[in-house]
Amino acid sequence: RHERTLAMVKPDAYKHLGKIINGIQRSGFMINNLRVCKLSKAEAQAFYEVHRGKPFYDTLTDFMSSGRICAMELTGPNAIDSWRQLLGPTDSDVARQQAPNSIRASFGTNKTYNACHGSDAPDTAAQELAFFFGRPGSAAVGKCD
Ligand code: CMP
Repeated sequence: RHERTLAMVKPDAYKHLGKIINGIQRSGFMINNLRVCKLSKAEAQAFYEVHRGKPFYDTLTDFMSSGRICAMELTGPNAIDSWRQLLGPTDSDVARQQAPNSIRASFGTNKTYNACHGSDAPDTAAQELAFFFGRPGSAAVGKCD
């Protein structure tokens, strides 16, 4: 099934952007859109609204607003699950045990600083892609200095 998903390289892995893009292309995804930006704290809070109230929300949104990120629209067969497969488990320490060749094993640190994000379903993918790339009548979010 042909799908689109949001792939995001987080501030901790921005320095590895070239290697991550290389892996994405070697894995057969099409990069359909790409943007580098820096989220404000309020924008990071809005992106992770679904996690508001969780104990890690403040740490997560501080981290996500701490530096440049790269947002990409990836397309391909089964793109949502394929990208999550390439990412490995959320916690980079777990990823190193269970999926040592994954992106989170290679470039992340722990369950907060975990290198990259991927949408988890078609509806959240559409919402997250609109957040970074806009849709008719609503501007995209996040600016570089
Ligand atoms: P991501 O795929 O961006 O989706 C939500 C993020 O919250 C997740 O990656 C992690 O960065 C972070 N996260 C999820 N669970 C925890 C946790 N238990 N402790 C700290 N951070 C977490």
